[in-house]
Amino acid sequence: MFLRTLVRASVALLANVSVTRVVSAVEANLHATKAGHIKIQSKVHNATGIRYIKNSGICETTPNVTQISGYINVGTNMSMWFWFFESRNSPETAPFTLWLNGGPACSSMIGLFQENGPCLVNADLNSTILNPYSWNSLSNMIYIDQPIGTGFSYGTDTVNSTETAAYFVWTAFQVLFESQLFSKYASRELIFATESYGGHYGPGFVTYFEERNALIPSGEIDAVPVVVSAMMINNGWYDPLIQTISYLNFATYAPGYGQLQSDDVLKNISDSLYGPDGCVAQENACYAAGNSTSSNKICRDADNYCGTYVFLPAVGNYDSYDIRQNSSALFPPEYYVDYLGRGDVMKKIGAQVKYEQCTSAPYEEFAKTGDDARTWLPQLSALANSGLKILIWAGDTDITSNHAAVLAMDWYGNETLHNTPFTNMTINGKPVAAVQNVDNFSFARVYGAGHEVPAFQPQAALEIFSQVIRKEQLHSV
Ligand SMILES: *[C@@H]1O[C@H](CO)[C@@H](O)[C@H](O)[C@H]1NC(C)=O
Ligand SMILES: *[C@@H]1O[C@H](CO)[C@@H](O)[C@H](O)[C@H]1NC(C)=O
Ligand SMILES: *[C@@H]1O[C@H](CO)[C@@H](O)[C@H](O)[C@H]1NC(C)=O
Ligand SMILES: *[C@@H]1O[C@H](CO)[C@@H](O)[C@H](O)[C@H]1NC(C)=O
Ligand SMILES: *[C@@H]1O[C@H](CO)[C@@H](O)[C@H](O)[C@H]1NC(C)=O
Ligand SMILES: *[C@@H]1O[C@H](CO)[C@@H](O)[C@H](O)[C@H]1NC(C)=O
Ligand SMILES: *[C@@H]1O[C@H](CO)[C@@H](O)[C@H](O)[C@H]1NC(C)=O
Ligand SMILES: *[C@@H]1O[C@H](CO)[C@@H](O)[C@H](O)[C@H]1NC(C)=O
Ligand SMILES: *[C@@H]1O[C@H](CO)[C@@H](O)[C@H](O)[C@H]1NC(C)=O
Ligand SMILES: *[C@@H]1O[C@H](CO)[C@@H](O)[C@H](O)[C@H]1NC(C)=O
Ligand SMILES: *[C@@H]1O[C@H](CO)[C@@H](O)[C@H](O)[C@H]1NC(C)=O
Repeated sequence: MFLRTLVRASVALLANVSVTRVVSAVEANLHATKAGHIKIQSKVHNATGIRYIKNSGICETTPNVTQISGYINVGTNMSMWFWFFESRNSPETAPFTLWLNGGPACSSMIGLFQENGPCLVNADLNSTILNPYSWNSLSNMIYIDQPIGTGFSYGTDTVNSTETAAYFVWTAFQVLFESQLFSKYASRELIFATESYGGHYGPGFVTYFEERNALIPSGEIDAVPVVVSAMMINNGWYDPLIQTISYLNFATYAPGYGQLQSDDVLKNISDSLYGPDGCVAQENACYAAGNSTSSNKICRDADNYCGTYVFLPAVGNYDSYDIRQNSSALFPPEYYVDYLGRGDVMKKIGAQVKYEQCTSAPYEEFAKTGDDARTWLPQLSALANSGLKILIWAGDTDITSNHAAVLAMDWYGNETLHNTPFTNMTINGKPVAAVQNVDNFSFARVYGAGHEVPAFQPQAALEIFSQVIRKEQLHSV
């Protein structure tokens, strides 16, 4: 679903069908919805543009709050799905926030409908209820399905890594900021918010945007700067070596929840981690291989080994996203998937292919290069070192814990972070998270929350988001 491992589990079922599925679904739906779109052609970038529906009436039903859904063409036959919601408050001054879910190849409609969007879908699979804790209470929000092939996006997919994905998201911003519809947001505060595999996307994409920005003043490229003013990543996958070791630590003692697996199982996990040719050795080999061609297989093998012999036994029969639930977890419900599958809803919002929460074909492209097993901690460290406003946060019941990765960051605040005790952030006296702040960098472990933090703790998530927007350190209110 949203973390790499569940995607892997579902891949076998889906392999070989999705490419043809996408093509035939496009043909089947094209005519039905084509007429409804308004089209904008880019004058700057070839074969790019936007086609969209304004105010579909779906999901955001707050009066006078504009929404726009449709496709950003980021190249020939590359239709990238987006859904934009104006801020419910002060839309003319509120920031512009990008939300990306992870996977790789999981849809950002997960975040929109289960976590921080304007509505939740009811159990009747046919109606919605407004979310009072929606992040568009405070910010203009855009949700994007990327890379091509993910969620409602369709067309030619050439992306096989975090690096190659970055270019197309950058292009999407170029097309948006060129259009009259979105040009006013080019100068707004831009918040980059992501989750899970976003531990790769966040550092990767923001670093890439900054590299592009640096080429603009000299005229080397003709482009609009994409200036990220804050980055927030929850339950991220930054460093596979450190975080795979954390699986063992979490299964041995989950803070607040105790020991998850028997001593025998823990012993086996430890052997798989530290034994000859074990997970740690293979991950180190992957890191050492850099981005040479041979690294693809080395990293792929490391990923498979660590997933099979460390992650899976550490999880056992728990839901890896929330250890309070078993593997048949019921929360958050997935009613929205049925809702987005309805023809009338698709037609209203301008979607042209059948929705899939996580899609196997684009996932498989990442798997080929072993992208999952590679680290983005150096880039995260460099961004923290530059003073960028960063929040790394995680639900405390998710087996993918983040604190060890954060402590290993190589940046000027390292020593201070190590010496900063956790304090409780409270809302009206109730503790919602254990937090650490060092200058513009904050870490939060949110109590009683799984992988999709805003789904479990919507009020705390919105408060945390508001403090990041205001560039404040996390504090009690
Ligand atoms: C766009 O296409 C034209 C004609 O094919 C070509 O000359 C131009 O270099 C292209 N521009 C970009 C930015 O790719
Ligand atoms: C919506 O906008 C219209 C026209 O600008 C205005 O008359 C109306 O009061 C607004 N409604 C709300 C609830 O803000
Ligand atoms: C784009 O898609 C159309 C229709 O599916 C196909 O005929 C065409 O060859 C594609 N072009 C490229 C460059 O992939
Ligand atoms: C869904 O809701 C609409 C009204 O919003 C109604 O017309 C339709 O019959 C409902 N469909 C189902 C399958 O419940
Ligand atoms: C990944 O994509 C890049 C750029 O398109 C390409 O050069 C490379 O060969 C691809 N790698 C694999 C393993 O498919
Ligand atoms: C430990 O690993 C061995 C060898 O793979 C296996 O036979 C045994 O069942 C495992 N024990 C537990 C408790 O998982
Ligand atoms: C990986 O490739 C990029 C260019 O795509 C290069 O800048 C970088 O130094 C390489 N990294 C390693 C570890 O070889
Ligand atoms: C998982 O938990 C649910 C709810 O408590 C329960 O109904 C179900 O039987 C459990 N499933 C397994 C496999 O333990
Ligand atoms: C924190 O961010 C602000 C901009 O929001 C910047 O002016 C300041 O220099 C940063 N602080 C540090 C210590 O880097
Ligand atoms: C960070 O600080 C800790 C504690 O002082 C130290 O052990 C570690 O080596 C430092 N890490 C880096 C990358 O500087
Ligand atoms: C912080 O809150 C947690 C959860 O309520 C509680 O267990 C812990 O004792 C509190 N810590 C402090 C230092 O108050």
